[in-house]
Amino acid sequence: MTEQTPVTQTAAAKVPTLPDAQTVTEVKHYTDSLFSFRVTRPASLRFRSGEFVMIGLMGDPDPVTGRQKPLLRAYSIASPSWDDELEFYSIKVQNGPLTSKLQHIQPGDTVILRPKPVGTLVHDALLPGKRLYFFATGTGFAPFASLLRDPETYESYDEVIITHTCREVAELTYGRDLIESIRSDELMGELLGEENLAKLRYYPTTTREQSPKMGRITSLIETGELFADLGVPPLSPETDRAMVCGSLGFNTDLKVLLEKAGLREGANSEPAEFVVEKAFVG
Ligand code: A2P
Repeated sequence: MTEQTPVTQTAAAKVPTLPDAQTVTEVKHYTDSLFSFRVTRPASLRFRSGEFVMIGLMGDPDPVTGRQKPLLRAYSIASPSWDDELEFYSIKVQNGPLTSKLQHIQPGDTVILRPKPVGTLVHDALLPGKRLYFFATGTGFAPFASLLRDPETYESYDEVIITHTCREVAELTYGRDLIESIRSDELMGELLGEENLAKLRYYPTTTREQSPKMGRITSLIETGELFADLGVPPLSPETDRAMVCGSLGFNTDLKVLLEKAGLREGANSEPAEFVVEKAFVG
């Protein structure tokens, strides 16, 4: 096509102009059900590490009117707020309305991104403390991938503990690679500070495939195994703060344990000792 080629209805329909379109720059697949991708960042988008935005694709045309509506879901931004691009970590659900399509995106494709970040997994929602726990299952690791690359995380605490529980070992890969890159990347070392990085402790567990540490994190908390393994005292509202992100059942069970230990749930408007957010499912 040249510039003189008339733009017909058909040609125009083939390349729809998406509202809030961003370009995909990288896609990585980890398992049959997990992938991550990076997109361009709108110049005006500011966010706090740990927040989420709505992203998606145009849905199928309505059979009667032929009109297409955007299909959007909440996705935690996995990249830190200083990054030029935005990163997301997603499940693939074969019959999921969005992820059945989203899993096929390639660099150069466009996705819709509504640039209105919100969320509770932010430093502002926690009172000052000594030790910060990030408790994640599955794709609930995503907001922590952002927070773990944010210098404020290390500046505010003496110790930063990330636990990640998945059914199988391969599902830990995204998180494991991220921790590895934080620890070995020279730029990250400079940015976060070598002595700050020494505060980072990674505690991966699996529940359905053999690995060095097995079990639900809730059980490991109840038995005290988590604290014994890390050589830290049991949870206390005096010293410990927590952010939780996983399935609904996981969030509920962990909240019960945190409250039993005397921690209170906080919010942006009223900071306290822990905050919870549901990981994207569907
Ligand atoms: P399990 O294999 O024992 O169900 P899912 O893929 O279902 O979201 O689970 C991700 C991980 O979170 C799995 O290892 C799963 O363990 C664990 N998990 C699921 N629900 C809970 C819960 N209510 N409390 C603690 N861990 C949970």
